[in-house]
Amino acid sequence: MTTPRDSQPADPMVVVNGVLDRLRSEPGALLPILHEVQDALGHIPGEVVPVIAEALNLSRAEVHGVVTYYHHFRSQPPGRHVVQVCRAEACQSCGADELLAGAETVLGCKAHATRPDGMVSLEPVYCLGMCAMSPAIMVDDKPRGRVTLDDLRRLEAQWKEAVAS
Ligand code: FES
Repeated sequence: MTTPRDSQPADPMVVVNGVLDRLRSEPGALLPILHEVQDALGHIPGEVVPVIAEALNLSRAEVHGVVTYYHHFRSQPPGRHVVQVCRAEACQSCGADELLAGAETVLGCKAHATRPDGMVSLEPVYCLGMCAMSPAIMVDDKPRGRVTLDDLRRLEAQWKEAVAS
């Protein structure tokens, strides 16, 4: 995922028009379009919803409904770092629920939320394809397995240190 946290923010309209030019005539184009827009912008800004709706001959409510139905899609920009904690079966059997609850405390933000200082967003997800390494998480699109709360404490400390230096 390329997000604005790494570089200059991209113009949402330029991004969405480029994606629509390539994908609008594909069957079932809405989901691929939303994925590409989020990959490029880090979220689906509200201002692009009517543009996508018009291009696909859908209502704004239909596009908005899809964006809000799937937890994967964000309507708000994420924090500088995104921690995704797997909550699917294999990870649950290895303590994922406890890890997520502990992550809320260690990282200082609730699941599905971004910390007030914008440092980190915490997102529950369902299977990262690393079931043999449960409990698994993704940190800024990098997979990590057999994760403990101490790992999260170290990450959080590194991020704080990087901001302070
Ligand atoms: S169940 Fe967590 S990675 Fe598959």
